Amino acid sequence: MIYQIAITIAGLTMATAATAADSSAASVLSFDMTAGVERTLTVSGVEVKYLAFEGLTYVKNPLEPKYQQLNVYIPKAYAENKTQGRYKADTAPIFLPNHVGGYMPALPKAPGLGRDQQPDAMSVALSEGLVVISPGTRGRTLQDQSGKFTGKAPAAIVDLKAVVRYLKFNDQRMPGTAERIISNGTSAGGALSALLGASGDAPEYLPYLEKLGAAPGSDAIYAVSSYCPITNLEHADLAYEWMFHSIHEATRPKRSGGPAFGPAPANGPMGAKSEQDRPRRPAGAPMFNTGPMSPEQIKVSALLAAGFPAYLNSLQLTWQGQPLQLDAKGSGTFRNYLQQQLEKSAERAKQDGQNVSSVSWLSVGSQGFKADWDRYIAATGRLKKAPAFDSLDLSSGENSLFGDNSTDTRHFTEWGHAHHTGPAEKPEKLAPANVVSMMNPMNFIGNPKANSAVHWRIRHGTADNDTALAVPAILALKLENSGKQVDFALPFGQAHGGDYDLPELFDWIAKLP
Ligand code: DHB
Repeated sequence: MIYQIAITIAGLTMATAATAADSSAASVLSFDMTAGVERTLTVSGVEVKYLAFEGLTYVKNPLEPKYQQLNVYIPKAYAENKTQGRYKADTAPIFLPNHVGGYMPALPKAPGLGRDQQPDAMSVALSEGLVVISPGTRGRTLQDQSGKFTGKAPAAIVDLKAVVRYLKFNDQRMPGTAERIISNGTSAGGALSALLGASGDAPEYLPYLEKLGAAPGSDAIYAVSSYCPITNLEHADLAYEWMFHSIHEATRPKRSGGPAFGPAPANGPMGAKSEQDRPRRPAGAPMFNTGPMSPEQIKVSALLAAGFPAYLNSLQLTWQGQPLQLDAKGSGTFRNYLQQQLEKSAERAKQDGQNVSSVSWLSVGSQGFKADWDRYIAATGRLKKAPAFDSLDLSSGENSLFGDNSTDTRHFTEWGHAHHTGPAEKPEKLAPANVVSMMNPMNFIGNPKANSAVHWRIRHGTADNDTALAVPAILALKLENSGKQVDFALPFGQAHGGDYDLPELFDWIAKLP
């Protein structure tokens, strides 16, 4: 299904019953349901009236007032005691998409058209009857007037937690139920979405939330949608080289349905589109140097690749009761599991009418599709040189994420720190382990100190090489192994991106218990 949209602004201020002013010190954070402005959008020919509340500060002491703000969008039906989609005011879930790319700062957004000129996730969510919250968040490049950095880790996740607390604090004042918050994000935003879901109520964030004057209460959420999460950063270099160590040249980012997948199919979702017309990289996604790797980088690649099996085995993951392991050479049941996921992806694509016959890494056996791992790696190629994340010269976005108030970039792995190369001198210290840990959802799954979300939807396209496919797979498996409900899939031919399957996303949301 393709959604279509039109938005008009009626400029009408809604006058509904005001909630009595909250007497607590946090009353400056009280949501005012009378302050909405009526707007209309049309999705798939159906008009949706909604109320917009924009630029609401979600902490008492914002450090970056322009960013620590959120927009609220509420189907107007809920101010009139009517239903929208399958929900009413007290049952509507709250959709919380973050807009983070590249771990950069993000401003709140309004519903509108997405990159492909189709209604974006916020518009579709409203039409489906969800309350929509669009948060701004601090990011790694923000500086105050004195030049102090204000958005280094863990700023963005602390901001998202403050937003969740704001929603819970205002649950009685605002339509929608804060018991049903569903977060969404892509790439760095997908990582933050997963982190928000995994780390609910974890105590290590409390001092940060208190300092900002976040509303009191819980920051646990109900469900997570995460597209191509750039996550588990401490181990992402190992995983990347485990997959791509045989490739010694970094190539341009792929677009969905790109050359690695043979000629664009004549029909289906990516049918007959030229390279130019295919979806571009998400906003904020960094670009990388292409070209051959140096002999030194090739050595680094082999060393990192050799470190991955020990990490993977330490997780003791299982799938359908079978242990997932890797031998010292990097083969084993974990790799077989990934191959099976690739085969499932092709099967689904075929059922959806995509032409999968010209894909180099697929063959048809008696049991259905067979994926050839080495050919898959060759077809996918590497986007980043080794190390992909903790750059030895401190040049990556992730190095910049892990700076602090006065330091722009730092290493965040012992390995990267130990192997530091110029141009700058080796810094004395790497990022503190507790800060690095606060950015990794893996540390909170199955951890009794965290209230992790129960429902998860994780997507990583088969053509995505911004991070190793192993990274989201490990996340999904760890969640599943700790009893969470996980819908994990690899959209076929999909490169780095998100929100490309909104009908399926909202169908998943509609079916949540
Ligand atoms: C994103 C992409 C990357 O390759 C990365 O290292 C960090 C973030 C992104 O698209 O957000």
